[in-house]
Amino acid sequence: MKVCVIGLGYVGMCQAAGLAKLGFAVSGVDLDEDKVGLINNKTPPIYEDGLKELLEEVVPDHLTATTNLAAAVKKSDVLFVCVGTPSKKEGSMSIEQLRKVCEDVGKTIQKTDRWFTIVVKSTIVPGTIEEVVIPVLEKYSKKKFGEGFGVIMNPEFLREGLALKDFFSPDRIILGSSDKKSINSIKEVYRSFKCPILTASFKEAEMIKYASNAFLATKISFINEMGNICKKLGIDTNTVSKGISMDHRISPHFLRSGIGFGGSCFPKDVNAIIYKATEQGYNARLLRSVLDVNREQPLKMMELLDKYGPLKGKKVGVLGLTFKEWTDDIRESPALNTIKELLMEEATLCIYDPKAMRQVKKIFPHLKYMKNADAVVKESEIILILTEWPQFKDVDYKNKIVIDGKNVFDRKRPKRYEGICW
Ligand code: UDX
Repeated sequence: MKVCVIGLGYVGMCQAAGLAKLGFAVSGVDLDEDKVGLINNKTPPIYEDGLKELLEEVVPDHLTATTNLAAAVKKSDVLFVCVGTPSKKEGSMSIEQLRKVCEDVGKTIQKTDRWFTIVVKSTIVPGTIEEVVIPVLEKYSKKKFGEGFGVIMNPEFLREGLALKDFFSPDRIILGSSDKKSINSIKEVYRSFKCPILTASFKEAEMIKYASNAFLATKISFINEMGNICKKLGIDTNTVSKGISMDHRISPHFLRSGIGFGGSCFPKDVNAIIYKATEQGYNARLLRSVLDVNREQPLKMMELLDKYGPLKGKKVGVLGLTFKEWTDDIRESPALNTIKELLMEEATLCIYDPKAMRQVKKIFPHLKYMKNADAVVKESEIILILTEWPQFKDVDYKNKIVIDGKNVFDRKRPKRYEGICW
């Protein structure tokens, strides 16, 4: 079976490399020539643990990349669509990239009688497959869904930094479709996976993705709200979190309080489902408050700084810029908002992050970027930790003030230390 993966971002790149590792012949497609060139040169276009070694193994025998979508589609049977669905300014989901890919795929498959299964992995609000994907494919292919081609909604649950691990050992595989032939063809792709496979309707599969991310985001805002209350009461939230997580119904996962969630998914997906609900006349009050708590969480760092007097001219070091450890991704990173607040108070900043310096320099070109964490400590009076990179645990903070937004110290803490919620 030959596979095509369209859109080689964080999801598509791991999907393509993972399927190649499983022995499929994979053609990766992306508009970005530089990205295509990097992949064909066995160089990862993103930082993801294990991806470099995987590309060295599978390129070019099992994986090649191209900008030519038509050529890649023509030699494939299953087409994975992994393009982005970014937020529009009012919070709704933008499906322009998805619509364009469906149009191009439709035009390409029109010219052949072979069966194609189009598998959508992009995160799309309930109804998108039936209201957009299928109609656009039918229009441009001049074929009928279920007769000339099949469609599956197969949401991804990959975590950045752990994406390949999550690809090879998912908790579950969700297959949404109304077409038996499509379900059977895609089960062939996932035959080597041991996890449960749930088949569902298109809308159910679309909704499972949003409900998963919205629940995880809710869990984080919940423990952050508990953390803020505990902080006022002089209680260590980490002990409270540990205590509640021993209830199997709660579990220890996603109960780490801090400066809040970032990334390209939680904020975008929670906003999109709120918008969709509002369109249907339902006010998603709980989900709105999840975002409200998260939006204000980085400001708690600023409140903790108040006790050290005006920040104007104070030397403040920032450790960590990415939205979480083990990634180079700064999208919606709470660190960026914290930096903006610090600049508004005219603090003198110096910055270090193991992976994201290049990207952040484009946003804040005039800040002082240091070669490592020790150099930040040396240069600063107060140090803020904004991403849970493990190397920040072992730095010698001397007698400097350390304010921790990400709970990086599981053992010895610095002498002059305070946590955002503990
Ligand atoms: C998330 C979902 O986990 C994944 O299933 C989905 O496919 C994409 O979105 P990702 O955004 O890559 O994955 O990272 P994740 O590990 O979920 O962390 C998201 C944010 O929550 C990060 O900013 C992280 O620091 C924060 N977080 C996570 C907490 O603040 N506390 C926690 O306990 C866990």
